[in-house]
Amino acid sequence: MFQINIDMNMKKLLFLLCYSILLLSNTFAQKIIPIETKDFAMAFQTDDQGRLWNVYFGNKLASESDYQQVADQYFFPSNNAGQYNAAYTPSGTWNLSEPALQVQHSDGNLSTELTFVNVETQQEENATVTRISLIDPEYKISVVLNYKVWADLNVIEQWTEITNNEDGNIQLNKYASANLYFVGSDFYLTHFQGEYLKELQPVEEKLTQGIKSLESKLGTRTLLLGSPNFMISFDQQAKEDNGLTLLGQLAWSGNYKIDFEIDSYQNLRLIAGINPYESEYTLKAGDTFKTPSLIYSVSPDGAGGASRQLHTWAKKFRVLDGEGDRLTLLNNWEATYFDFNEKKLSRLFKDTKELGLDLFLLDDGWFGNKYPRNNDDAGLGDWQVNKQKLPHGIGYLVKEAEKNDVKFGIWIEPEMVNPESELFRNHPEWVIKQPNRPAKLYRNQMVLDLSNPEVQDFVFGIVDNLFTEDPEIAFIKWDCNAVIYNAYSDHLQKNNLPQSHLYVEYVNGLYDVLERIRQKYPKVPMMLCSGGGGRADYALLKYFTEFWPSDDTEPIERIFLQWNYSYFFPAIATDAHVTNWGKQPLKFKVDIASMGKLGFDVDLKHMEEKDILFAKQSITNYHGFKDIVLHGSQYRLASPYENPFASLMYVNEDQSEAIMFNYLSSNRWEERITRKPIKLKGLDASKKYQIKEINLYPGTKSTLDESSVYTGDFLMNVGFNPEIDVKRTSVVLKITEIR
Ligand code: GLA
Repeated sequence: MFQINIDMNMKKLLFLLCYSILLLSNTFAQKIIPIETKDFAMAFQTDDQGRLWNVYFGNKLASESDYQQVADQYFFPSNNAGQYNAAYTPSGTWNLSEPALQVQHSDGNLSTELTFVNVETQQEENATVTRISLIDPEYKISVVLNYKVWADLNVIEQWTEITNNEDGNIQLNKYASANLYFVGSDFYLTHFQGEYLKELQPVEEKLTQGIKSLESKLGTRTLLLGSPNFMISFDQQAKEDNGLTLLGQLAWSGNYKIDFEIDSYQNLRLIAGINPYESEYTLKAGDTFKTPSLIYSVSPDGAGGASRQLHTWAKKFRVLDGEGDRLTLLNNWEATYFDFNEKKLSRLFKDTKELGLDLFLLDDGWFGNKYPRNNDDAGLGDWQVNKQKLPHGIGYLVKEAEKNDVKFGIWIEPEMVNPESELFRNHPEWVIKQPNRPAKLYRNQMVLDLSNPEVQDFVFGIVDNLFTEDPEIAFIKWDCNAVIYNAYSDHLQKNNLPQSHLYVEYVNGLYDVLERIRQKYPKVPMMLCSGGGGRADYALLKYFTEFWPSDDTEPIERIFLQWNYSYFFPAIATDAHVTNWGKQPLKFKVDIASMGKLGFDVDLKHMEEKDILFAKQSITNYHGFKDIVLHGSQYRLASPYENPFASLMYVNEDQSEAIMFNYLSSNRWEERITRKPIKLKGLDASKKYQIKEINLYPGTKSTLDESSVYTGDFLMNVGFNPEIDVKRTSVVLKITEIR
């Protein structure tokens, strides 16, 4: 991920020291290295040659000596295809299985072996980091495997550092972040494919011999067609509440590749990292390459348990301001598209206030003069306010919004350019494009070359200028609507750097810009948007408070989309807007959007009085219960993939309050009613609760008996029937402890 320049002589000295000790000792005492969390463990063991093997992954064992005995119970000779269970599989020697590391050394040789040097453990405030150092006994390269463990949460972040101590450059042809090995019988993989407006669609399959790869070559917006998020269920198909389950994500915002290989012993090898596709990386003598991280949560309690652990980790340790508050908002995108002016916006500020929302978000179309942004075919890159639409500038709008007691936010798409722009005319060399070949546009635009420090400055400047001119801007929506076609960088060429660095350095450039933005503006909330789900990963969410899962806001589709995202992301990071998409009643839309960070893309001018009244009441309700949704624990109760309805709930920390959302997701005649109770989860069995229906549409009454008191035990074992039917297609329940 980064190239770190460390004093080369120092590194060489250290390397030689380790190397000599290794040669002197000649034989290796067998060493066992367990990496343990609260409930599970993996263990590595050296052999008499000093190679390091992954010997265990499963429930945590009682004592360290137990791990020592594991390997003896298996018979997996290495003469099949080599080093199936290497802790980090090298290539070019007698290993013939899929490698994690492929290096071309400075003398052109393609072989690498890795032997154990030492292991260090460092205690951090909330986590433990174990660093295992390996070296090649012939070539002066070293590899450090890093495992950062949040033991209580059963979450591990794993990455690798590769250092070149040779005299010349080496080339990394493959440089995985993580290499895991699972011994077992059946492995079920749930992975996610998609396309624009249909992101993150799950597919579950039993892995069979051979390699199943999940990958992206899109460069930017890399999650558009697939996802680096996955779930492995061990010994059985994915279950919500039981079974050993691993939820993982390669936290990298560029091209990724995750290989799941069932080897000839029917065990599962997992190798995950930056996609090696056109990405050979030249590492200078003395430099270290740090890979992105594989992040995973492992639970004995099925997908639900693994999700809650990941959510807690994300809220506490990863998402920007993950335990803070979020601003509800009105976004003008679907209300106006590009067609707005100051008068229209002033009216929308009033609407924002009237609805009781916190912020108005001005979307695409506010910039460009010579090439005005009146459509998506011009203006991108020219970040000067459009004088015709907004003659008084952004500052005026911020003040107008404030007069209505509403905060103001703004949309940018800083990594992109339309050919119809002054930016493209002035800096054609800043654009990623093959020389001598026609440009290929995606949504009429191209991608700026973020490997170029000048472009990085430009992108940083867009945000910096906005805040310098109008420090009151309270929110940024950062969009990214194109993939990289014709990957070629003028900057790399001019600096004699390989073109194969572009995909990697683009992403590093993006992270550098965001790092600078966050140093100067640490708090301002930012939405990570990429035309919908093109970007949502835990590398970028360090800098963003939330992400936009999809441009598809059709409410039935949203039930499924939000369900799928919920495996990996907490509600506080998941933006959900009410729009005009779909024919369902407003209540249905608002109820679904209330399961995330609530926003609206509506124009009150086109809404019925009763709908406006309902919107206001439900926004007030949302402000009342959002603490439970944004900060509580999420339980998926009934899957829309298995039922004609969907049901989810959120429970606060002391289990005194919960919110349950229920939706009819099918339209088939006989299915349009919940005949059975839905079992609740996450409550305290010994507490007593009362259930009240909220978000009722004006003039309607709940059909539920709200006077009864139920024990948590009853609600979790028998359940509660929300009485969903054709007239009650969505039902929101507030569950409160009665003391
Ligand atoms: C993308 C975003 C939308 C909107 C448009 C503006 O499609 O996902 O929300 O901002 O761009 O062009």
